[in-house]
Amino acid sequence: PVVKEIFGLSDLEERIRKAFGLRKVVIVHGDSDDSPLTKKELGRAGAKALLSSMSSQDVVAVTGGSTIAEVAEHLSPPANLSLKQCWFVPARGGLGESLEIQANTIASGMAKRVGAGYRLLHVPDLLGKEAYESLVGDPNIHDIVEMIREARIIIHGIGDAMEMARRRKLDESTVRELKEEGALAESFGYYFNEEGVVVHKMLTLGLRLEDIMRTETVIGIAGGRSKAKAIHAVLQSGHEDILVTDEAAAEGIVAEI
Ligand code: BG6
Repeated sequence: PVVKEIFGLSDLEERIRKAFGLRKVVIVHGDSDDSPLTKKELGRAGAKALLSSMSSQDVVAVTGGSTIAEVAEHLSPPANLSLKQCWFVPARGGLGESLEIQANTIASGMAKRVGAGYRLLHVPDLLGKEAYESLVGDPNIHDIVEMIREARIIIHGIGDAMEMARRRKLDESTVRELKEEGALAESFGYYFNEEGVVVHKMLTLGLRLEDIMRTETVIGIAGGRSKAKAIHAVLQSGHEDILVTDEAAAEGIVAEI
């Protein structure tokens, strides 16, 4: 805390917390865009924020992404709380990303690290209408989707809209639409404009925006100067409770307020 005072990080935390009515903001030093160490610190701070939000019988929904993967790396069983009766579930289906950063992989990894249980959702994230309809009807998938929608805690990454469109290999016409609609941020398959309004969503199974809105604790974790506008856009949408970010992103967020 002393170090934070000297560099004014506590001030930044408080400004962002107040501006968006958040419960808590944690800022780590540096810029994860150019420092892997900062990204690790972000992961460590994220793990701490997650564990301090947990109680003994929670369902935690997690998204994929390299940042949340870093959170998983830093999780260890808390000293005075058993998480044996907790469950980790992916927030949505796979995102066509590499295995290590898919939500299923991260959910199972987190559960193993803290001695909790996990359930997986074995469906692709980008579904055609027909596939979607037949999968929603499947009893096993239905059960896990119900569980996901009842999560008390959500921990998720935030991405720059164009970067995520590229990572998810969206077709050119969708990318053009996203640009025209002013998409800045992406999170859980939703694309947000600078006011925090959803301008595009992918037809997927798992958490919907209405579930996220009523979830008790939503923890967003993202850093790097390049993500400042995206993080700001997601904060504008008003569903976050806790934000864990880095100094470079925080400065960019404050410049947008
Ligand atoms: C995705 C999440 O897997 O990761 C998104 O579903 C998020 O919500 C993205 O935008 C961020 O990824 P990264 O690698 O930048 O942390």
